[in-house]
Amino acid sequence: MSGIIIAIDGFSACGKSTLAKQVASHFGYLFIDSGAMYRAITLYALQEGLIVGGNLDQAALIQHLPRVSLEFKNIRGQQRIYLNGQDVEDEIRKGEVLNYVSPVATIREVREKLVKEQRAMARQGAIVMDGRDIGTVVFPEAELKIYVTASLEVRTQRRFDELSKKGVYMDKNEISKNLRERDRIDTSRLESPLKKADDAIVLDNTNLTKEQQLQWIIPLVDLALSKSLS
Ligand code: DC
Repeated sequence: MSGIIIAIDGFSACGKSTLAKQVASHFGYLFIDSGAMYRAITLYALQEGLIVGGNLDQAALIQHLPRVSLEFKNIRGQQRIYLNGQDVEDEIRKGEVLNYVSPVATIREVREKLVKEQRAMARQGAIVMDGRDIGTVVFPEAELKIYVTASLEVRTQRRFDELSKKGVYMDKNEISKNLRERDRIDTSRLESPLKKADDAIVLDNTNLTKEQQLQWIIPLVDLALSKSLS
């Protein structure tokens, strides 16, 4: 038995990746942060000068896509994303990438490329992937789908703490504004908008600790696993 596919979707900064990493480590599954792939393409667009004066040249980015190669590597137990052979894990979490990733993620051709790569990564099963469209588009047949939410206030604080840990200071109002704008784009875009899959289970982790959310999900994974075996 090769294990099930677990899809974790939800808004930015509500702890999806944390939950996905916890589950992956608890069950010995492969963890894939699909948002990192959208962020890496955004960084590529910035590096190649395809975003100038706040304007993204969509047509040029689409033309460049065959030249974009993404790979995840496990470095000392931590998953890191490589863009054309370069480790960009830290760079994709700050600066201009934050402002442009949602618009980049609206481009159909970008999504087609990444969805194809995401499905290829799950060929052997036993995978937990987090994102926006994992349960609805990438793996509609996933054995377990979780839709994570949390209050905007808590999400702002979590993003603030995450950035502070990396030595990046960003005003909380600025973070909150950025999150609201990303929510708006992610839920209203035409291509694979963020929405709860009909069969997804909602987790509101506003008042949960990391340990509590892990304890919440373990029985759900066990149940989905045993169903997949029967
Ligand atoms: O999960 P994250 O914050 O790293 O995601 C970054 C952006 O990428 C987010 O604004 C929406 C987009 N994204 C997406 O459209 N589909 C996914 N499967 C994952 C992320």
